[in-house]
Amino acid sequence: MRIIIINGPNLNLLGKREPTVYGNKTFEDYFSELQFRFKDVELEYYQSNIEGELISKLHEVGFDYDGIVLNAAAYTHTSVGLGDAVKAIETPVVEVHISNTHKREEFRHVSYISSGAKGVILGFGLKSYDLAIQSFL
Ligand code: DQA
Repeated sequence: MRIIIINGPNLNLLGKREPTVYGNKTFEDYFSELQFRFKDVELEYYQSNIEGELISKLHEVGFDYDGIVLNAAAYTHTSVGLGDAVKAIETPVVEVHISNTHKREEFRHVSYISSGAKGVILGFGLKSYDLAIQSFL
C-alpha cells in the first residue's frame, strides 16, 4: 500500500505558524510518528507552496499510488486547477484539514477539492491525517 501526503502552501511552517490554530508540532516530527504507526504502509510526504507544482505532483502520483491525502491549504478555497487535477487522476484523494474550516472565516467554507475527493476529514488537528490514512486501509 503506497500512500502520499501532499501539503500545500504555508504548511511547511507548521510548529511556528499560528500555533493556537495549527499546534506546536512540525510536520516532519509528525510524519516520523505516522511512519512508526503505519509500518505496513509505504508513506511519502511532499509539500509545496506553488500551485502548479502541487498539480504536477498529483499528475505524477495519481495513476500509480493507492491513496493521496491532500491538504491543499489556502488553495483549497481558490484553485479550480487543483480541483480539476483531483478529478483528472485515478488514485482516490482524501481531503484533509487540520482546523475545522467551517468554524472559521466564510471564505474557508468553500472547497474546490471536495467534489472530486473520496472523502473529507477536517477539524481533528494533525490527527486528521491519521484518520485519512486509516480510511485507505
Ligand atoms: C488548512 C485550512 C485552510 O483554510 C488554510 O488556508 C490552511 C490550512 C487546515 O489544514 O486547517 O493553510 O487547510
